[in-house]
Amino acid sequence: MSKDRIGPDENLRALHLRIPPYGWAVIGFITLILAALAFYRTQATYEHLAEDKYLGPSRCKACHPRQYESWAKTRMAHSFSLLRPGVKVQEKWSVKLDPLADYTHDARCLPCHTTGLGLPGGFVSFETTPDLAGVTCESCHGPGGSYAELVMGSRNPRFSTADARKSGLIYPPTEVACMACHNSRSPFFGTADWFDPSQRINQGAHEHFHVNYDHGR
Ligand code: HEC
Ligand code: HEC
Ligand code: HEC
Ligand code: HEC
Repeated sequence: MSKDRIGPDENLRALHLRIPPYGWAVIGFITLILAALAFYRTQATYEHLAEDKYLGPSRCKACHPRQYESWAKTRMAHSFSLLRPGVKVQEKWSVKLDPLADYTHDARCLPCHTTGLGLPGGFVSFETTPDLAGVTCESCHGPGGSYAELVMGSRNPRFSTADARKSGLIYPPTEVACMACHNSRSPFFGTADWFDPSQRINQGAHEHFHVNYDHGR
């Protein structure tokens, strides 16, 4: 008779009792992992939506150490220092710039001697964004915000160049990328030998290293 009288409460209690105490700890742990995974995904998606954001060369260095080491030795990498007073005195005199003036905050000079001036994640000042002083990876390859980790990520090493381009990668950089700075708005344009990008496209940037996969072009 008592068996027939088991009501919903007793059913629930029976169910509850079947889960041993450590079972709740396991369930809690799994829930935490799932929540963390979900959070990670939204972060990744968010970063993708964060469009053409500049990251700075140290982010590229993590996966491209050889290009980084080689680039770090180039003159373009150090071109911010040309804006300091007392640097290139003769050269500045010759184009009627004041050799003793500090041009490191001069809006006329910064667009070509820094990376991503005024753009999301880009150069603000040497004091706040020292990483983006000078001509860096993203000056030639485009802002890495979308392509650098989502498309190129180590889990996706065989990505197609077409996909990376859709996310903002400039590859291979053409004369157009160089002409953004190598043009007549430079006070020194034409002082040295005529800059012909088609002749110099592989000069001044960094050494080139073999890539493991054919990503297409
Ligand atoms: C349109 C881009 C651009 C702007 C704007 C610009 N520069 Fe440059 N700068 C360059 C480039 C490119 C070079 C390399 C020489 C060349 O081909 O013009 C250069 C070279 C230099 C050099 C080295 C010259 C040499 O002979 O070694 C100095 C110094 C310099 N710039 C200072 C300045 C200062 C100061 C300003 C602002 C008044 C300025 N630049 C504005 C692009 C620019
Ligand atoms: C964001 C601006 C910018 C872009 C983009 C840029 N340059 Fe430059 N480049 C400079 C500045 C500034 C200098 C002056 C550095 C110096 O004289 O110390 C320079 C100097 C050079 C030099 C002479 C110094 C050397 O190392 O021999 C070469 C060659 C050169 N650039 C090639 C290129 C090529 C090729 C591209 C395109 C793939 C390019 N640059 C894109 C700003 C730029
Ligand atoms: C002045 C322009 C310029 C700058 C700055 C620059 N690159 Fe490049 N990069 C190029 C050019 C040009 C190529 C060659 C494209 C081709 O093969 O025709 C290239 C090729 C590459 C490649 C393909 C493999 C190789 O070695 O050729 C990688 C990876 C790369 N760059 C990463 C970087 C990273 C990381 C930085 C910063 C540390 C950087 N680049 C800075 C112009 C530049
Ligand atoms: C998480 C790792 C990672 C980061 C961060 C990263 N890359 Fe890459 N990148 C790769 C991989 C992997 C390849 C393919 C290399 C191969 O095939 O050997 C690649 C290839 C490239 C290529 C050649 C593209 C092609 O289609 O052949 C360029 C250019 C490049 N990266 C530039 C950059 C720049 C600039 C940054 C920083 C804004 C950057 N990468 C950040 C992993 C990364």
